[in-house]
Amino acid sequence: MPEKKFFACLTCGYQTPRWLGRCPDCGGWNTFTEKVQREKKTVGVHANFAVSEKPCLLAEISPEEGKCFSTGIGELDRVLSGGIVPGSLVLLGGDPGIGKSTLMLQMVAQASTTGKSALYVSGEESVSQIYLRASRLKISEAKVYVVSEIDVNNIEEQVKALLPEIVIIDSIQTIINPELGSMPGSVNQVRECTIQLMRLAKSTKTSIFLVGHVTKEGILAGPRLLEHIVDTVLYFEGEKYQSFRILRSLKNRFGSTNEIGIFEMREGGLEEVSDPNVSFLMYHHLETVIGAAVVPVLEGTRPLLVEIQALVTPTGFGSPRRMTAGVDYNRVALVLAVLEKRVGLQLNSYDTYVSAVGGVKVIEPAADLAIAMAVASSFRDIAVANKMVVSGEVSLTGEIRPVYGLEKRIREAVQRGFSLFLVPGSGLNPSLFEGITIKPVYTLGQAIELALSR
Ligand code: TYD
Ligand code: MG
Repeated sequence: MPEKKFFACLTCGYQTPRWLGRCPDCGGWNTFTEKVQREKKTVGVHANFAVSEKPCLLAEISPEEGKCFSTGIGELDRVLSGGIVPGSLVLLGGDPGIGKSTLMLQMVAQASTTGKSALYVSGEESVSQIYLRASRLKISEAKVYVVSEIDVNNIEEQVKALLPEIVIIDSIQTIINPELGSMPGSVNQVRECTIQLMRLAKSTKTSIFLVGHVTKEGILAGPRLLEHIVDTVLYFEGEKYQSFRILRSLKNRFGSTNEIGIFEMREGGLEEVSDPNVSFLMYHHLETVIGAAVVPVLEGTRPLLVEIQALVTPTGFGSPRRMTAGVDYNRVALVLAVLEKRVGLQLNSYDTYVSAVGGVKVIEPAADLAIAMAVASSFRDIAVANKMVVSGEVSLTGEIRPVYGLEKRIREAVQRGFSLFLVPGSGLNPSLFEGITIKPVYTLGQAIELALSR
């Protein structure tokens, strides 16, 4: 078979017969890797591709085509905007040990109960290890094909022979195309295998889920390349030492990326948490304690009541420490600066620790006011008012800016027994709510006086 060797830039795809330190096209340094192109193979792939794509009229496309089907797991469907789209390629990322394999195995087992056929390809575990996991999850009876395989060409053959509706590749880092000659997990292998699997998904209308071990930082480095190739990127996150897991969608060609799915890792596998506010997940008391404030965070269409906690203590060393968990460090820094400059809290000789309870990550600016409130509460050593919920973005001028979906947030908190609301002072009709107190606030200073007066 004739072989052609060349070097290609990983960033822009520029090809050259010689290795170059810097790409003349995109300017990236050290981006070239060697590639071997086998003429015969390339022709085959292109021929394949051409057959499947003939132009057709929009009106001739059947509405049934591309209609999604349920995974059998409600929280997963929610994140996938309804379910699995046939022929889609989904990347599921997350730290090792977070529960990706468990989630995928449970998904295919659930889907198989509604007659969906599935193939679970593991490049990490043997078939008997998969069986052990399945029996732990009490799904070893499920009609799911399993195989231990790392060669992407063999996987392609098996998928073409079985034609399952769902294929899981666990994980993409272990899969190789031997023709490329580079190590499994290298950027080149991961990208080429993904492209091959993408073609496979589209040509066979099989939905392929790729599991990828990536940290939050890692998803920006190596597998970031994959984000552009795949249709959907899901990220499974949670604190290692807590049982709650949150599934987010970072990209979705078929729907919104706002929704999150919440699971709990138990003895028998992942369980859905469909009403997180009832469980002790986010907050644990209506009676407030010093250094805590509750904010209704709106994740997609579902409000979550999250308790923000802060601890402010005198600095032992020269410069004050700031630490955060579950909240954005930069937002905390901004809120602290506003508290210092606009409200006059002398925080510069105090260490400040801020965290969101329950292992949830809060990224919304609507949580600013709760962060400020928790910090001010700890600093002044006064608990915030009872049964109080706060929501609002803090601007650099110390004003409280409106947040979207305020009514929905308030309704959820009312249901959970909260009755006092400090909210941005515009755009809400207080007569919508009975039996509760809504206090509009315009500046951070005013909000703190209202919340922290005994
Ligand atoms: P796993 O799905 O293997 O993680 P990943 O594929 O993301 O690396 O999950 C591993 C962790 O989950 C492991 O620490 C044990 C825990 N676990 C349970 O708590 N209960 C279970 O039923 C299973 C299967 C795993
Ligand atoms: Mg795994």
